[in-house]
Amino acid sequence: MATVKQAEASQARWTVWLRIQRDGRRFSEHHVVVPANSYVIDAIERVFALPGERLLWRHACHHASCGSCGLRINGVEKLPCITPLADYDLRKPLVLMPLSHLPRVGDLVVDFAPFFARMQAVGMPLLRQDETAPPEAGLQRFESCIECGLCVSACPAMRNPRFLGPAALAAAERLLEEPRGADVETVLRTVDHPDGIWACRSAHQCTAVCPMGVDPAGAIMRLRQRL
Ligand code: SF4
Ligand code: FES
Repeated sequence: MATVKQAEASQARWTVWLRIQRDGRRFSEHHVVVPANSYVIDAIERVFALPGERLLWRHACHHASCGSCGLRINGVEKLPCITPLADYDLRKPLVLMPLSHLPRVGDLVVDFAPFFARMQAVGMPLLRQDETAPPEAGLQRFESCIECGLCVSACPAMRNPRFLGPAALAAAERLLEEPRGADVETVLRTVDHPDGIWACRSAHQCTAVCPMGVDPAGAIMRLRQRL
């Protein structure tokens, strides 16, 4: 049976002040109420549910699996589904902005086509070539990377639009370990390029923000040593 304290705690509410970047420079402001100890995604959902609100944002799994909810919270790349509101001073606004270095679709949504194009450029198969089962049969994930794009957004070298970027280079290193049909020499030639591993500025921001511990910066340094 729940104690009185537990019952009181379960009824506690927090008010969250959100400042959300909409199209371009415009921000909308919202004060929403959520259960205590909620996550940032819960506050965004409250805004989404407001009558007449047309906030564009993307999410699915709510547990750091789909990689779709990434954005910048107070300037730092995060997955709001695993970011506790308790990490912030809620007397101040949480400023939500879309990821950087990917084309903006609207509000908090960016277009991931360039991200996946980079993955394919290094030869990382997004599905196994022999995969014939329909998605509902259950596709396996082969990497720790959830393709959330946080590393790409945080990387200062991504101002060069030709840079392959941290996620693709980490995928390339993974392919060299386990080629899965990829031609190792082709992968090496692709990454050994001024817009490949040599465009990295060793800022290590990719590794700092990666929610899955992929360590793209470490992968890039290992590729450099190998080459
Ligand atoms: S390497 Fe990490 S931050 Fe980059 S896309 Fe994969 S999971 Fe996200
Ligand atoms: S909702 Fe799937 S990773 Fe956040």
